[in-house]
Amino acid sequence: MQASIYIGLMSGTSLDSIDAVAVRFEPTFELIASHSEAIPAAIDRRIRSMLSPGENEIERLGLLDLELGELFAQAALNLIEKHNLNKDEIAAIGSHGQTIRHRPEANFTLQIGDANLIAERTGITTVADFRRRDMAAGGQGAPLVPAFHNALFRSQEHNRILVNIGGMANLTILEAGRHTAVRGYDTGPGNVLMDSWIQQHKNSSYDKDGQWAARGKTNSTLLKNMLELPFFQETPPKSTGREQFNSLWIRQMLNKQDNPPPPVDVQATLLDLTATSIADAINSHHLNNLQIYLCGGGSHNSRLKSQLSFLLKPHYLSTTAELGLDPDWVEAAAFAWLAQRTLNQKSGNIPEVTGASGYRPLGAIYWGN
Ligand SMILES: Nc1ncnc2c1ncn2[C@@H]1O[C@H](COP(=O)(O)OP(=O)(O)O)[C@@H](O)[C@H]1O
Ligand SMILES: [Mg+2]
Repeated sequence: MQASIYIGLMSGTSLDSIDAVAVRFEPTFELIASHSEAIPAAIDRRIRSMLSPGENEIERLGLLDLELGELFAQAALNLIEKHNLNKDEIAAIGSHGQTIRHRPEANFTLQIGDANLIAERTGITTVADFRRRDMAAGGQGAPLVPAFHNALFRSQEHNRILVNIGGMANLTILEAGRHTAVRGYDTGPGNVLMDSWIQQHKNSSYDKDGQWAARGKTNSTLLKNMLELPFFQETPPKSTGREQFNSLWIRQMLNKQDNPPPPVDVQATLLDLTATSIADAINSHHLNNLQIYLCGGGSHNSRLKSQLSFLLKPHYLSTTAELGLDPDWVEAAAFAWLAQRTLNQKSGNIPEVTGASGYRPLGAIYWGN
């Protein structure tokens, strides 16, 4: 039997859950199954404690690497069981891992979740550690989804921009035609600042549909100060993470204000920061005949979406659901695709996007049983 199914495992910066998908690329792309694996509270705490420098890091890192390896393996096994997939049909797993540092300026990025354990527990060949080869070749190691967006979402007639709104936000520019260059970069925060602010003030994990933000009023001075961060002005290649966009940064920005706004207005401002930084990036390309498609958890935030469509008028704005792939599973599918590329000895990065000196097959292979 020809093994043609690939599993993608994605654990993003938001720490909302582990996304697992089973997909096929031949004869055409097909999403076969999906599963969302909860992150147990104790593991969530241990991940968060690794996000900034602390005591006894090597020991804690090593143990968490194993714990996450087991959890990712379980996510794959639950996906397989829930949908009754035949293991013999599964060619490989692509596991992104959990980012605990992303510092492209130091050529340093680290995703953990031991892939030896994933291969051992599932018996399935696993590809992991996708970002560091690109960095070794001089790239940012991110974003890596543009090559998959290009493979799946390119149009002959329309210019298209894909916007993935996860913890961070990144976009992929696909100009109409068959062989035009692919561009892409991180635009800045996606949901991460809104999540962090509502967690501090309301004890809920995210601002559903931007309902809390909707009750506040954007503070234009705060928004302007935030948008003055050099990152927003930098030319690509560029990528970012929680190292830049976190609650400490919000605090620092608020400390510059003479009259700090009430928390609800800060939430409104953070939503606008995400919308404005994405829209400014898109508008800077001056593309006409443009279709914009959102994916990632932020594509469900109706207030963010309406703010984006206001700022992006008159361009067409929708989600990847319209292109045949549920916005919640695009990123996990991208890592299944990257695994398939690597096993076929094909490149996964796009040098124009990451800044790497050339195309490279990405990741390391852990053979199955
Ligand atoms: N209905 C919604 N309203 C507002 N935000 C949402 C909604 N659904 C999901 N989100 C946001 O999406 C985030 C998860 O997005 P995801 O694409 O999984 O990001 P990551 O790749 O960083 O894990 C959540 O933390 C939340 O902020
Ligand atoms: Mg997620």
